[in-house]
Amino acid sequence: MTARILDGKALAATIREEIRDEVSRFVEQRGVQPCLAAVLVGEDPASQVYVRNKQRACERAGIASQLHRLAETCGEDELLQLVAELNADPAVHGMLVQLPLPAQIRAEKVLVAVDPAKDVDAFHPENVGRLVQGRPRFLPCTPHGVQQLLVRESIEIAGAHVVIVGRSDIVGKPLANMLVQRGAGGDATVTLCHSRTRELADVTRSADILIAAIGRARFITADMIKPGATVIDVGINRTDDGLVGDVDFEAALAVAGAITPVPGGVGPLTIAMLLHNTLAAAGALI
Ligand code: GUN
Repeated sequence: MTARILDGKALAATIREEIRDEVSRFVEQRGVQPCLAAVLVGEDPASQVYVRNKQRACERAGIASQLHRLAETCGEDELLQLVAELNADPAVHGMLVQLPLPAQIRAEKVLVAVDPAKDVDAFHPENVGRLVQGRPRFLPCTPHGVQQLLVRESIEIAGAHVVIVGRSDIVGKPLANMLVQRGAGGDATVTLCHSRTRELADVTRSADILIAAIGRARFITADMIKPGATVIDVGINRTDDGLVGDVDFEAALAVAGAITPVPGGVGPLTIAMLLHNTLAAAGALI
């Protein structure tokens, strides 16, 4: 058996075209261009690439983008001041502070300072709470991308056993909450695994949908996958062989029923969902 490849790149292109059309209608009707402000602190090479890709995607969708850069050595107060200015600027609809932040800055202080109505990453505690309660304002971008991929590829979520490996605030925890909600795109039975999970391979082998979000190259091996399962790889790990996911892709191909590649799987969907949230923040959706 060879798994069906879930082409996240192609799906992201489709979603981005849909958003471009919605942006164009919104601008025509309301005379306002949606605008995303990105804040980048320091020189982290990966963060610089991510932010550049987000800006380029905005431009292509007809969304205005701003980049605000602060030095690696900047203080928490300086960053909080910038966030306050962007909160107060009516021309800015969505805002994100790229993570990770330098050690002298407490990320939780910064994320709570972002106006929840502009919080297109959905990292603010108010937005996390709303998500858990099943009445989200914004869905966090990577989990939303994973959910869209499953829904649009017609992979049955309702009643499925979804096993997520990795309990991060950005992916594992919100995704578990989303997939367990009542209704479309939810109704799964979710198991959230982490570094202290006992007999991990036994748990992952019971998954109809296995989602790897741990940040360790090729951590999920073929023997951890149930034959025919859907495997979603959220990992992006830089190795001597280049970018690889959290799943041993070549070996998994022979066992899984469907699988996302890295690159070209979940990654492109994250940016597409950021555009969706920016348009929603401008008032065009929801
Ligand atoms: N760093 C890694 N992923 C993300 C993300 O989704 N948003 C932000 N702001 N920073 C990140």
